[in-house]
Amino acid sequence: MSGLLENKSVLVTGAGSGIGRASAQAVAREGGAVTVADIKLAGAQETVDMITQAGGRAVAVEVDVTDEVQVDAMVTAAEDAFGPLDCAFNNAGIARGRDHVPGTLTAQTSFQAWQDVLGVNLNGVFLCLRRELQSMEKRGAGAILNTASVAGLIGLAGASPYTASKHAVVGLTKASALEYAKTGIRVNALCPGYVTTPMTNGTKQGDDKRMERVPMGRYGTVDEVAELVVWLLSDRASFCTGSSFTVGGGIEAG
Ligand SMILES: NC(=O)c1ccc[n+]([C@@H]2O[C@H](COP(=O)([O-])OP(=O)(O)OC[C@H]3O[C@@H](n4cnc5c(N)ncnc54)[C@H](O)[C@@H]3O)[C@@H](O)[C@H]2O)c1
Repeated sequence: MSGLLENKSVLVTGAGSGIGRASAQAVAREGGAVTVADIKLAGAQETVDMITQAGGRAVAVEVDVTDEVQVDAMVTAAEDAFGPLDCAFNNAGIARGRDHVPGTLTAQTSFQAWQDVLGVNLNGVFLCLRRELQSMEKRGAGAILNTASVAGLIGLAGASPYTASKHAVVGLTKASALEYAKTGIRVNALCPGYVTTPMTNGTKQGDDKRMERVPMGRYGTVDEVAELVVWLLSDRASFCTGSSFTVGGGIEAG
């Protein structure tokens, strides 16, 4: 039986860890050939090793998504490895800037912390998205998924740079989806709630205030997120574009 992404050329950024890694593995299990991109090459290579040991196809690429030249080279490398891009998952992101203490109010937020988060979470998605669209529009087909967050739909106090960056990803997704809706290229946003990854490992799960906000009373797993990623990238989602899809244990319902 063939997989949902059989022989598709799929690019995943931030794939050296967490949601990106699990999604890259899930894409490969569904028959996709994955370009595993991350600023940390060792993490990307680890993901590739996991995929190839399981019988899948993948290559690692080092990229800083905030760098226009590196993003261009990343897409070229993906195309050289597995042919024109069919799908892209723009997932690389950071929770906070270098000097940002969680819970810091907007008035006390440094401009550096603001620029760090917007640089990766928004500029990075824009640079990847733009290059991928240029590539896909030549063929008139493709599926792109941008990682936003539940914080792209509701406000997260004490995290204004992150909240702003993720709301902006939702807006960018809507605008580009409208532009390309008639071309065969779909663009959607993924909005995870709290998910167990290295990004959230610093939080004591089970007894923190975040848990009270999740109706299901637990963090999600990366595999639960990857299920949705695979489906949205696949042709099964052929009528979905410009939408934000939440996987968050009911967090946005209340
Ligand atoms: N974990 C959660 O609860 C959660 C919830 C909502 C949204 N998200 C979003 O999901 C995405 C993945 O997060 P995660 O939880 O898997 O975190 P993670 O820290 O495990 O993975 C993020 C990956 O992105 C990479 N990265 C960071 N900056 C980069 C850059 N400039 N260029 C290239 N790669 C870079 C990191 O090296 C890392 O491998 C992020 O966009 C995050 O904002 C996570």
